Amino acid sequence: MNIGVDTPLFFFYDDNDAGILGRLLEERATHERSVRRLGVKDLHIQLRDLIFPLSRTMDMMSPAVGEHNLLVAYLSLRLCEALGFSPEMKSALCIAGALHDIGAFSLQDRLDLLDFEETRSTEHSMAGYLLLRGFKPFEGIATIIRHHHLPWRSGEGRFCEGQPVPEGSHIIHLADRAAVLISKDRPVLSQVQAIYNKIEKQKDAVFVPQYVDALKALTVKDYIWLDIASGAMESVLYKNIGTDMAQLDVNDLLEFSKIICRIIDFKSHFTATHSSGVAAVAVAMAKLAGFSEEEYPLFAISACLHDLGKLAIPSEILEKPGKLTPEEWDIMRSHVYYTYRALAPIESLHTVATWGAFHQERLDGSGYPFSYAAGDLNFGTRIMAMADVFTGITEDRPYRKGMSRDEAVALLKGLARDNKLDKKLVDLLMSNYEEVNDVRVAAQEQAANEYREFREALKTGLTPL
Ligand SMILES: [Fe+2]
Ligand SMILES: [Fe+2]
Ligand SMILES: [Fe+2]
Repeated sequence: MNIGVDTPLFFFYDDNDAGILGRLLEERATHERSVRRLGVKDLHIQLRDLIFPLSRTMDMMSPAVGEHNLLVAYLSLRLCEALGFSPEMKSALCIAGALHDIGAFSLQDRLDLLDFEETRSTEHSMAGYLLLRGFKPFEGIATIIRHHHLPWRSGEGRFCEGQPVPEGSHIIHLADRAAVLISKDRPVLSQVQAIYNKIEKQKDAVFVPQYVDALKALTVKDYIWLDIASGAMESVLYKNIGTDMAQLDVNDLLEFSKIICRIIDFKSHFTATHSSGVAAVAVAMAKLAGFSEEEYPLFAISACLHDLGKLAIPSEILEKPGKLTPEEWDIMRSHVYYTYRALAPIESLHTVATWGAFHQERLDGSGYPFSYAAGDLNFGTRIMAMADVFTGITEDRPYRKGMSRDEAVALLKGLARDNKLDKKLVDLLMSNYEEVNDVRVAAQEQAANEYREFREALKTGLTPL
């Protein structure tokens, strides 16, 4: 047998071994070899490799949304080219465009924003700003996103509340409004002039005149519009996101993952602290299982990203008060697949991403979306599945209290007995219940405070400390 990074660690089980910890340590040794091959210290990821999977996942919320985030990034880039802007500016706008509607959580928000006349909603711009600004390489991008619906008003739009507004915000605004005018139902080249005419009517009142002129220059270049229709946008964008863009080591990636974790969780007050709890439990379990300190971030990263696919799930479904209809449940279930599709192709993230993406798989093969069984589910995956279940049943939600210790223990033991969750891991949790639960509670309390601050800042338009 070839032993590789993805070799299920439980192939190495010897059920005659005595003691849970002994067996876990044995698996840990095998896992260490995997992790060494994974190269914790050499885990370097280009930030740009993470942008488009995020952008695409957000756009999967509905076919009606199309590739809106990507399209805005693309048109912003082409406007920058026409205006002769620097490579740094192009790079920043490719990213800001790809993430510009990250603060629009509900399907209704996303659909409203596709209406050209839409003027009321700027809450999503502020939400995007608040969510992204905590990650240092995104500070400037967050400010661009904050003002991406601000009208120009003959130059008044240079400032907002006394603060200068980045030029990029006005580029994104123009690209965004042009993007919503493109219909998938007609040949794109037949639409270009009408799109320009509509934008031109709002020259100076809503859009920067110089940028409207740049759009005019684009109207005669067929290839720009055909790139949109032919699916070439992503490769064009990719080439223009600077290679000088941050390269993330494992610690940077953890910081980035924490930001993504907040974005996923804050979509709904029902889930506002969930991934934070899963991360705390996963790391606590990794510690108990004897992993080394340098490996803890891998578990935290995986847990922070395990529900990434929820970016594709409308908040209307995430926070529906009653039972989901079968169709809503079909949508909800797809989130794990979207996590996998977004992250697994990133080579150096593959192993860590799949631990998280398989959190709904079960040892008896009854899980989803791959119906994998014990032989396919490695140690990291089993930890993540257990951390997800444990956090899910013990956390308080607005519509119900979390389970008591007795209830949680009974349920977890049942899941181990039925060969859903790993029995050895469940036993390890049982022997350290208070310790693990305390870590979860502390992490979720902190996340709940951050969520309150976020909602407050959104309501008042003020920036929290
Ligand atoms: Fe927007
Ligand atoms: Fe938009
Ligand atoms: Fe999930």
